[in-house]
Amino acid sequence: MAKWLEARVLENRHWTDALFSLRVEGPRLSFEAGQFVRIALEETLARPFSFVNPPEDPVHEFYGIVVPEGPLSPRLALLKKGDRLLIASNPAGFLVLSEVPDAETLWLVSTGTGIAPFLSILRTETPWRRFRNVVLVHAVRHARELVYVELIRKFSQQHGLRYVTFVSREPTPGSLAGRIPAALRDGRMEQAAGVAVDGNSHVMLCGNPDMLKDTQAVLVERGLRKHRRRNPGHITVESFW
Ligand SMILES: Cc1cc2nc3c(=O)[nH]c(=O)nc-3n(C[C@H](O)[C@H](O)[C@H](O)COP(=O)(O)OP(=O)(O)OC[C@H]3O[C@@H](n4cnc5c(N)ncnc54)[C@H](O)[C@@H]3O)c2cc1C
Ligand SMILES: NC(=O)c1ccc[n+]([C@@H]2O[C@H](COP(=O)([O-])OP(=O)(O)OC[C@H]3O[C@@H](n4cnc5c(N)ncnc54)[C@H](OP(=O)(O)O)[C@@H]3O)[C@@H](O)[C@H]2O)c1
Repeated sequence: MAKWLEARVLENRHWTDALFSLRVEGPRLSFEAGQFVRIALEETLARPFSFVNPPEDPVHEFYGIVVPEGPLSPRLALLKKGDRLLIASNPAGFLVLSEVPDAETLWLVSTGTGIAPFLSILRTETPWRRFRNVVLVHAVRHARELVYVELIRKFSQQHGLRYVTFVSREPTPGSLAGRIPAALRDGRMEQAAGVAVDGNSHVMLCGNPDMLKDTQAVLVERGLRKHRRRNPGHITVESFW
């Protein structure tokens, strides 16, 4: 049975009116980069959030969006330094590199807050040790939602991360227009990354469930298949709703 553990807010950074990153000081938790944990203000209303911090970091970080009609996220966005947050004692999830077979290229493909688990993974040594190419794809509605760019720039400089962005609702120089599945189908996404999506790739997908579905359909057309422990493949997914 999971226990509820108390944490204190150190910082609530607001990137935009809707996007926030909570850094909290609390219990040491054992987890693997890419996993999530349930967080709450009271035990009866909990939601899973992915860790943005790597496992060895004692400060936990969560990246969220305000869903205006949602019961929890608007309240999380209002938290201030010193406020209490409850964290469940049992992180979980399969969007982790220990579940991913060897490949030449690792694609980390996200929409919106789905970038969170990939930032945790990129903050560990494992992706750089295991894969020749690592590509981070982040699709957002507006350019101001391209968050954590300083950190991502460091991954590019230090480890050669390839970073591809999509901004779907306003023309943005340096970012692709439209959606991930269309740009995968017509080759624009691979061209921007400078590397192919093929049988030597593993693709991890996280975020909007419709993006997961539409992108997987294109990947399957390309001959890739869902990864299962008993039947290794190329696609691993985590849906945020
Ligand atoms: C495994 C897992 C990990 C998750 N990790 C994160 C995370 O790191 N950051 C995060 O912000 N959310 C994450 N979520 C979603 C999160 O648990 C909540 O659903 C979200 O914070 C909204 O909570 P709510 O109570 O306000 O509304 P809910 O009642 O939970 O959701 C209402 C509706 O809001 C929409 N929605 C929910 N989450 C999102 C989102 N992230 N982006 C856009 N629309 C959304 C959906 O349409 C959903 O039906 C994760 C979900 C799962 C299953
Ligand atoms: N983003 C905001 O400005 C904002 C502000 C306040 C509150 N919110 C709330 O946050 C929630 C939405 O969050 P979000 O903007 O992070 O998530 P989102 O709707 O998942 O959009 C993120 C990115 O995913 C793309 N996408 C959506 N469906 C797709 C599909 N089937 N295939 C491929 N790509 C797809 C979107 O493209 P499209 O643009 O083409 O859909 C967008 O580029 C809503 O509840 C909203 O009320 C959002």
